Amino acid sequence: MTKTLILSHPDASTHAAEPARVSSHEQGRRPIRSFVLREGRLTAGQERAFRELWPRFGIDWQPGEVLDPQALFATARRITLEIGFGDGDSLAAMAAAAPERDFIGLEVHRPGVGHLLLALEQQGLTNVRVLRADAAALLETGLPSASLDRVQLFFPDPWPKKRHHKRRIVQPGFVAAVARVLRPGGTFHLATDWTPYADWMLAMLDGAPELFENSAGPGRFSARPAQRPITKFERRGQRLGHQVHDLIYRRR
Ligand SMILES: C[S@@+](CC[C@H](N)C(=O)[O-])C[C@H]1O[C@@H](n2cnc3c(N)ncnc32)[C@H](O)[C@@H]1O
Repeated sequence: MTKTLILSHPDASTHAAEPARVSSHEQGRRPIRSFVLREGRLTAGQERAFRELWPRFGIDWQPGEVLDPQALFATARRITLEIGFGDGDSLAAMAAAAPERDFIGLEVHRPGVGHLLLALEQQGLTNVRVLRADAAALLETGLPSASLDRVQLFFPDPWPKKRHHKRRIVQPGFVAAVARVLRPGGTFHLATDWTPYADWMLAMLDGAPELFENSAGPGRFSARPAQRPITKFERRGQRLGHQVHDLIYRRR
């Protein structure tokens, strides 16, 4: 029997069987987005992936609905949400190395989603589901409180110019939204190759001691844990000589 994936949604008639479109979740007001949607061209393989693999791996979710993450997987296990997985190769590698865990990948960029769908098929992975939506909308109200074991955010767009800092995904509201969906004792793992953004993340997360405890101690970065594979953007940063920082926090 199919489990109910959506716990509630405002209007059943708007619940399309298509991948969730990235839409303004703040009605009437243009939200500040952490991404610029470059649609890019899909390869023939990615086109096929959306047609044939989305029904197997994709999550149809619309802003306003509340998703039941446990219902996405066959058995109730610990769930990791990766925000902005890019091409998804590192997420697929993590999932392959941890078959005892389940993963939800979240990304707005269609070619990246198609790329991950193909990787899941090629590697025969069954512990990953894919969602195409704005993280801000999903975290705000789209998941039940304390429903996830881990949230990971690897190499988010650094928005280096001062006038663009408001577009950085890590903001006090985002930190609170991640805290809401994590179970007590759960983990928030971030990484960046942009040192000023690493300092920004540290200030935001260390600045919320009622929500998160820095596992390396206040003011300190963590070493990259072996279970985090090198990502595509990390490799680019390494080529440019950037230092990589990991931050690992425990939800109180
Ligand atoms: C710099 S890339 C890093 C990709 C990947 N994590 C890596 O390390 O290779 C940041 C990614 O985050 C995605 N992204 C940015 N804001 C997002 C949001 N609000 N919701 C979902 N994805 C987002 C972008 O589309 C982009 O693919």
